[in-house]
Amino acid sequence: MPEDLGIVLAGGSATRLRPVTTVVSKQLLPVYDKPVIYYPLTSLILAGFRKIALISTPKALPQYEELFGNGSQLGLEIHYIEQPTPNGLATAFTLTEKLGSGSDSALILGDNLFHGSQFGHNLGNYRGEPGAHIFAYAVDNPSEFGVVTFDESGKALSIEEKPVNPKSNWAIPGFYFYDSSVFERAKTLQPSKRGEYEITDLNRTYLNESKLKVEKIPRGTAWLDLGTPDGLLDASEYVRTLQKRQGVPIGSPEEAAWRMGYISMDQLEKIVAEHPNPYYQNLLRKAAATS
Ligand code: TTP
Repeated sequence: MPEDLGIVLAGGSATRLRPVTTVVSKQLLPVYDKPVIYYPLTSLILAGFRKIALISTPKALPQYEELFGNGSQLGLEIHYIEQPTPNGLATAFTLTEKLGSGSDSALILGDNLFHGSQFGHNLGNYRGEPGAHIFAYAVDNPSEFGVVTFDESGKALSIEEKPVNPKSNWAIPGFYFYDSSVFERAKTLQPSKRGEYEITDLNRTYLNESKLKVEKIPRGTAWLDLGTPDGLLDASEYVRTLQKRQGVPIGSPEEAAWRMGYISMDQLEKIVAEHPNPYYQNLLRKAAATS
């Protein structure tokens, strides 16, 4: 069996964050004490992925390479893939077809933060399921997202991308698990009216075959979109408050890699020794306290 593939999509235009993102990639901006991309990468690690494809723009990709190297210090194998133009989320699977062929996979958006102990613990269960497994989260502004409707038994009935008149307030967050057929499905898609290969169209191929499972994210789990100035600031405050109150790191790939057994305590200590600042020192303290 080929190794499952975890994909982080960290390109895009980031127009909502200009001028901050005129020269800096959105997913390198800070959310409190770490870059945005640390949060989705940590979710992939907690879901059990070790083989990672990091997709970004030709301009930003070398910076991500500088940040993570080949991933071995985290017990990962990171592959870097250029997306020449931001032409849609579903292109993640045409870009990674060679790398992921025959594997199950998950895609997480590089600017999405998920946090919740129950959610984190369950993540590993979604890998290897037949079909597709996605999530739904109740929001006040569904028109900005893919929107799902359910029947009385909780089964997904319809999905629509950014509907003007949404039929429900259930948005689809940017974390999607797929079986190995996703790479073939992605190749059959046509661009939408706005010229993008839509993840909603990809998900609809599963829905039409009754192979799409949509799970409402449990209460107590946070999903934060980091694509706007307010989103970044809210997330920074959230992370700072919870880390200080609970003493548990949020979105630290080093700690997650240790927790998942990808690296040993010796390796974690070595990383901390190289960077003696509060972010790294807290990592170790927290790891030791919660082990
Ligand atoms: P969005 O936030 O929808 O788009 P954007 O990042 O271009 O921002 P804006 O709307 O402010 O212009 O993208 C969601 C995530 O997916 C984000 O992490 C960027 C990433 N993305 C790509 O990497 N490639 C793409 O083609 C698209 C559309 C998004």
